[in-house]
Amino acid sequence: MSPLIFNLDSDPSLFDQLAQLLGAERGALEQRRFPDDENYLRLHSHCQQRDTIIFCNLYRPDDKILRLIFLADALREQGAARILLVTPYLPYMRQDKAFNPGECISSRPFAKLLSATVDGLITIDPHLHRYRSLAEIYTLRSQVVAAAPLIAHWIANHICEPLLIGPDSESAQWVSEVAQLAQAPFEILRKTRLGDRQVEISPLSQPTSPTTTPILIDDIISSGHTMLETLQRLPAGLQQPVCIGVHGIFSGDAYHQLSQHARVITSDCIPHPSNQIETAPLLANAVRTWLDEGSHASA
Ligand code: R5P
Repeated sequence: MSPLIFNLDSDPSLFDQLAQLLGAERGALEQRRFPDDENYLRLHSHCQQRDTIIFCNLYRPDDKILRLIFLADALREQGAARILLVTPYLPYMRQDKAFNPGECISSRPFAKLLSATVDGLITIDPHLHRYRSLAEIYTLRSQVVAAAPLIAHWIANHICEPLLIGPDSESAQWVSEVAQLAQAPFEILRKTRLGDRQVEISPLSQPTSPTTTPILIDDIISSGHTMLETLQRLPAGLQQPVCIGVHGIFSGDAYHQLSQHARVITSDCIPHPSNQIETAPLLANAVRTWLDEGSHASA
């Protein structure tokens, strides 16, 4: 039987691509608010013994998480076999330690909550910095999709003489892989975070020429200050810089500010006018693998 896929409050275009690539049946979901603003949710699809995929992209997660819990619960009540969450962006990964006494290490309770809600999780390049893998905090079966091959492909097709730049030590994992795939030189800078919107970045030391295009690569662009500071550390006289983010959150006027200094490119993990890198085929492959592995395990 084909899997059932639900779109919970997420990008209809990426949802359609996924559903089509997977040959999945689109689940019918009724949602509304009660007069007191609480959520009402009702399933109109037959889910008995069926593998079910919830496409719920959890950027700005606080708005969505409760409905995700309600939907997963309703699916279990109706007898769904396994429930897989596909969220291209996995939130709350950046608070991976207590930076100040008394702080909640929110990545951990969030991981516990999701692990208790669904059976599996597929996401793209989660922010793995102090955790080496999702398995350190998630107890469900998770699979990470890497955007590096897609970014390398974009660079190879669009830029003649790229110099890849990672703004901080954690970006080394992505930037070095993209550099290897795109056969381009790279440098990782050092970042000191002074506040939510204040960072210091070390200067570039690699030799450059007027034909060099600096390409800044990071997993997340949130306030945009990491990218903006890095742009300011570039020597004058290079080609127009390119900023590539896997997850373009762009809080406030981040996109406007950045695009005054650079060409800004993102993957379609989070819908935005800067999207130029399509993730649906890789996500669909990961879902197929998850569904196959589970069916062998239970065979
Ligand atoms: C954290 O270190 C991430 O890899 C990004 O560098 C960070 O999230 C970017 O945030 P912002 O755009 O607010 O500087």
